[in-house]
Amino acid sequence: MTSTWWHDAVVYQIYPRSFSDSNNDGEGDLIGIRNRLAHVASLGVDAIWLSPFYQSPNRDGGYDVSDPRAIDPRFGTLLDFQQLMQRANELGLKVIVDLVPNHFSDQHDWFKAALASPPNSPARNRFHFYDGKGVHGELPPNNWESVFGGPSWTRITESDGKPGQWYLHLFDSSQPDLNWNNPEVNEDFEKTIKFWLDQGVAGFRIDVAHGLAKDEIYQDHPDPVGLTAALRLDVTDIDPEYRKQLLSDIPFFDRDGVHKIYRGWRNLIDTYPGDRFFVAEAWVYPTSRAVRYVRPDELHQIFNFDFLTIQWNAEEIRAAVDKITSEFKNVTAPPTWVLDNHDSPRVVTRLGGGAIGLAKARALAMVTQALPGNLYIYQGEELGLEDAPVLPEHRQDPIFFRTNGVQLGRDGVRVPIPWEGDAPPFGFAEFNSWLPLPAHWRELSVAAQQQDSQSTLNLYRKLLKIRKSHPALGGLAGVSWQDAPTGILRFRREPGFELVANTTDAEFKFTTAKTLLAASMPIQTTGSDVTLPPHTTIWLSE
Ligand code: BGC
Repeated sequence: MTSTWWHDAVVYQIYPRSFSDSNNDGEGDLIGIRNRLAHVASLGVDAIWLSPFYQSPNRDGGYDVSDPRAIDPRFGTLLDFQQLMQRANELGLKVIVDLVPNHFSDQHDWFKAALASPPNSPARNRFHFYDGKGVHGELPPNNWESVFGGPSWTRITESDGKPGQWYLHLFDSSQPDLNWNNPEVNEDFEKTIKFWLDQGVAGFRIDVAHGLAKDEIYQDHPDPVGLTAALRLDVTDIDPEYRKQLLSDIPFFDRDGVHKIYRGWRNLIDTYPGDRFFVAEAWVYPTSRAVRYVRPDELHQIFNFDFLTIQWNAEEIRAAVDKITSEFKNVTAPPTWVLDNHDSPRVVTRLGGGAIGLAKARALAMVTQALPGNLYIYQGEELGLEDAPVLPEHRQDPIFFRTNGVQLGRDGVRVPIPWEGDAPPFGFAEFNSWLPLPAHWRELSVAAQQQDSQSTLNLYRKLLKIRKSHPALGGLAGVSWQDAPTGILRFRREPGFELVANTTDAEFKFTTAKTLLAASMPIQTTGSDVTLPPHTTIWLSE
């Protein structure tokens, strides 16, 4: 297999609204990113992935796009983007951007035109507009639930003032789903792909890549509410067998029709020079279906989300790594590793929070960074941030509103980054930030962690540097497991690299002739005797 830079790249995810504010309006922007890009480069990553900065009414954090080829004024201008690209280039960072093909915003010109046009018109045919069921069309065309809670259909008022057709939105009602059976939709997306490739981007993260094709619309699902619950990572009180059954056949996700679209996009991206790539956000069940998205003529990568829910448990981690390795053995695509992102709890919080959560998160990061394949790091993960508390009046996530506050949503993982200083917003902006930063983040700011040799920031820098320079790390050669007691994870990668992780609450003592490269916590060694504290990982080398 020919190797390319994105086979073992480290990609840093930037959520533009929360990274750095240059114009003191309390929200991050492109100039802010450019000004702070040296921090990202100092981590030793290969690329940044920018979550959407396109024109958007921002009802779903920019994933409700009203013009995918225009920059939202809140983030700046095309010139700002070009200067950001130039800075990234100077720092040796590639840039990946988001593509949101499942839906547009209801403020997109196409949707406005659809509302102003009659049923069955070409303008309506770009979305999923259907007549309702019931004598007067008063019932939605089917009973599907929105992934964000509530019904996935909204009824419009026609131009004569009467209630009319319904449109499908798998997410918020402000995000009408596009009709991918209409060739005009693909033509427009190819225009968008070319537009950003011409700006020099190295690739795209495809949002909801499993959602573009839908089954027969006028068919109800046997348990739509159960299905929405089954799709949520945080719902655990559901019978695992039933969940499996629900997830194995979802009328609007992972339908065969999506693959034709990606073959076309692959042809398009292959006409551009440089090793550019697509990575799919596609939640598929069972996960063995993931490889269907990365067949040689389709996409290049698919996120593996197993580590978004993995416990800090040696046996579970080993099984997850083995599963991916065996699922991916027949495709050339590399596995990917993700500990958190803008949609999921921060890894420190998920592993219990506080000092223990942080210890486990650092130890798990060391395991992840030693695995073959690509790594995605969400902004603030390198600072060991936890989810921040968000007051109800500050909440913005449509999930919070669509579930009447039953689900808090994702605002807590989108609180801006602390850069420096003694008081919030810690250099993110001069005065205020769209979500307040907690006061105790003073100790977690980039500037504070810079001074502390044991900080999570310095640990990440050190690890990523070793990952780049050690001959066994990077690359796609697999791991070989070493015998170890329960709760201890031990593997080698050749030549000469070994990882030992203690996932238990007790110390683990062992002897080794190898040299210590890095440890997630300070450890004791006496000659060749090593005492590994609970929840600690070390890297060794011959
Ligand atoms: C994005 C989310 C977004 C959703 C709808 C995703 O999976 O990552 O942030 O809310 O798609 O676009």
